[in-house]
Amino acid sequence: MRTAIIYGGRSGEHDVSCVSAASVLRWIDRSRFEPVPIGIDRSGSWYLQSIPDDIHSDGHPLAVAVPGQGAIGFQPGSGLTCNGRSLDIDIVFPVLHGTFGEDGTIQGLLDMLDLAYVGSGVLGSSLSMDKVLTKQIWEQHGLPVVPYIALQHHHYLGDPARQLDRIIHQLELPVFIKPARGGSSVGVHKAHDRQELENCLADAFRYDTKLILEKSVTATEIECSVLGNREPEVFPPASITPTHEYYDYEAKYQDPDGAHFSLPADIPAHVADRISQLALKAFVAVEARGLSRVDFFYSEQTGELYLNEINTMPGFTAISLFPRMCEHGGLPYQQLITRLIELARE
Ligand code: DAL
Ligand code: MG
Repeated sequence: MRTAIIYGGRSGEHDVSCVSAASVLRWIDRSRFEPVPIGIDRSGSWYLQSIPDDIHSDGHPLAVAVPGQGAIGFQPGSGLTCNGRSLDIDIVFPVLHGTFGEDGTIQGLLDMLDLAYVGSGVLGSSLSMDKVLTKQIWEQHGLPVVPYIALQHHHYLGDPARQLDRIIHQLELPVFIKPARGGSSVGVHKAHDRQELENCLADAFRYDTKLILEKSVTATEIECSVLGNREPEVFPPASITPTHEYYDYEAKYQDPDGAHFSLPADIPAHVADRISQLALKAFVAVEARGLSRVDFFYSEQTGELYLNEINTMPGFTAISLFPRMCEHGGLPYQQLITRLIELARE
């Protein structure tokens, strides 16, 4: 089965995608799937790539070679093409994080081309990409979320002083500032005073015209893997204790000692059960499909538990938490890839 592995892309998570895709290419079961790597460069051009000779021994990220073996075209009836010829793709694994990958845009393109793909469809992807809309849907389903404020750039510019007052009054300091449609903590800040808040808002607005401001809760981050379509299953959660002030980009990807992980999470069994139930409800509420990692905040002191966000294409290297939680629950990485491709064809 010819399986396109699409990676790179235009988002701030381009590099993360290149690492995730290298793992998928390395571990995909070649006796069943014939991988066809397709790289998207940072400007959004698509190129057919060759499989690096050292892919089985080398854990390095895939590069997007430009122009690779040729530019990719899109042809209804033929699907993905290269140099005018159909690539005869049977299934697509978009190993893309963030904008133009995890937000429904590529999903819409693949739908138009009648190509089946791993992961959520247009609606589940775009809803989950937007942290504000996700929280609104979850609230409507009675699911617990951290107190938050949505802030559009043009509203902020209308009266910055009033907006700063409102944020500080409603959420108190310190407060988290996040681009509403970001990932991997790119553009995320924690502000401790009014001046810092103002600076952080200015920076975060470089990444998105809509922000989400969240109350800072003293809590452990707990993550949970969900897998499936109509009857999804959930795997035992893991907990993350960053050594940085919060789980920022550096702690996630650049500092080997950026965080400590506990797998399974070191939490009481009844809390783990509640997290599993909430993760399933959160997945279903946004109409996710295939896979997602659902992230929580849990405070041991107060027992408070909040949904934080859902990632419809979570970090996917063999040592990323999503696959590790699946492996811990009995589904090794290679079988996970196979299962995801099977789910895409259901
Ligand atoms: N957005 C990154 C890839 C994650 O959630 O793992
Ligand atoms: Mg995330």
